[in-house]
Amino acid sequence: MNAAGPKVLLGVAGGIAAYKSAELLRRLTETGHSVRVLPTASALNFVGAATFEALSGQPVNVGVFSDVPSVQHVKLGQEADLVVVAPATADLLARAVQGRADDLLTGSLLTARCPVLFAPAMHTEMWEHPATRDNVALLRSRGVVVLEPASGRLTGKDTGPGRLPDPAEIAEFARLLLERPDALPRDLEGRRVVVSAGGTREPLDPVRYLGNRSSGRQGYALARVAAQRGARVTLVAGHTADLADPAAVDVVRVGSALEMRDAMHTAVADADAVVMAAAVADFRPVSLAAHKIKKSGNEPEPVRLTTNPDILVELVGARKPGRLVVGFAAETGDEHTDALEFGRQKLARKGCDLLVVNAVGEGRAFEVPDNAGWLLGADGGETELANGSKALLASRVWDAVAERL
Ligand code: CTP
Repeated sequence: MNAAGPKVLLGVAGGIAAYKSAELLRRLTETGHSVRVLPTASALNFVGAATFEALSGQPVNVGVFSDVPSVQHVKLGQEADLVVVAPATADLLARAVQGRADDLLTGSLLTARCPVLFAPAMHTEMWEHPATRDNVALLRSRGVVVLEPASGRLTGKDTGPGRLPDPAEIAEFARLLLERPDALPRDLEGRRVVVSAGGTREPLDPVRYLGNRSSGRQGYALARVAAQRGARVTLVAGHTADLADPAAVDVVRVGSALEMRDAMHTAVADADAVVMAAAVADFRPVSLAAHKIKKSGNEPEPVRLTTNPDILVELVGARKPGRLVVGFAAETGDEHTDALEFGRQKLARKGCDLLVVNAVGEGRAFEVPDNAGWLLGADGGETELANGSKALLASRVWDAVAERL
């Protein structure tokens, strides 16, 4: 653990999802954050203080009367760079709204002036109750980021919105708010957006395919950030690394470029914006062998390829008035032309409204958590995107989209 890293307070409220806070804690400490855990008394019914102390390397106290000489209930909040509350129960949200200060966590929420991130987890009825809706709206109006929960299985047999987002996703948002405290405004509320992500796989026979190295991380980050900025999001995902489904996003899985094309045309029907972040194969095998191609006794046959449709160009052609189409370009540049210039040419060729240009190669962009590049507009605008998390780059893309919508 790097004690010099950003100081994070991890509040844990008393719900069954508290067990997932141990994994979130581990992720935060492993990425260099110095984390002090503030459980409520109820949270300790679910996870023991020893777990939090061992994983954080810091003491765990609940009440305001512990370690009185150092005035913890004031100091912890004042010194924090970020407060994350995961899970935030309906009761904790209500206490935060009222400005209660009857334990170390709520006291710290009152003295913190840094970004505050709540990751709610509760039963669907509680999440949808007008009391909770009002509390969430009020907290958001005060600048607190309250994540949309995921949908899925809750305690017992019921399903619906109310699940804690995956710890990896919460950690991604924590990093994002440290990079950029205003990265998650609710400026896409009422908007419908579609994002493609990952690489396509072009089948050769029932067991083999031509694929690429895309991890899908940038597309997933775009979908996650859009959902937390209030948009209704469909994510059309090809093959990706092992990524958790983003909270509050509809995920449609596809294999080949032709499948992705069909899924995109269906998904964009009522969309305000569409972002093609997927790595679509330019070519596919001409024919798909009905049976596994055998090695024995056969000379290797050359694989004959044919060109895939350019989905981005089709989406530009089919664009309804007011809809924004955003493309991506991964460029290496060559002896004569740099990556940015190739990007300008691609923007003109594809006809989209915005194009994100990533300089790739030498360990950049592919399969790594960070990204950088330029955002080019059809209106001639060019913005450099400084190196940072893929969620940070996503937040810049949605800024540009929200501004133009
Ligand atoms: N794209 C697409 N359909 C394809 C190929 C690409 O929709 N068949 C989209 C990608 O999702 C991306 C953009 O087009 O948003 C640019 O992809 P890229 O592979 O850089 O472009 P290409 O047209 O394949 O150009 P290049 O000649 O550089 O490979």
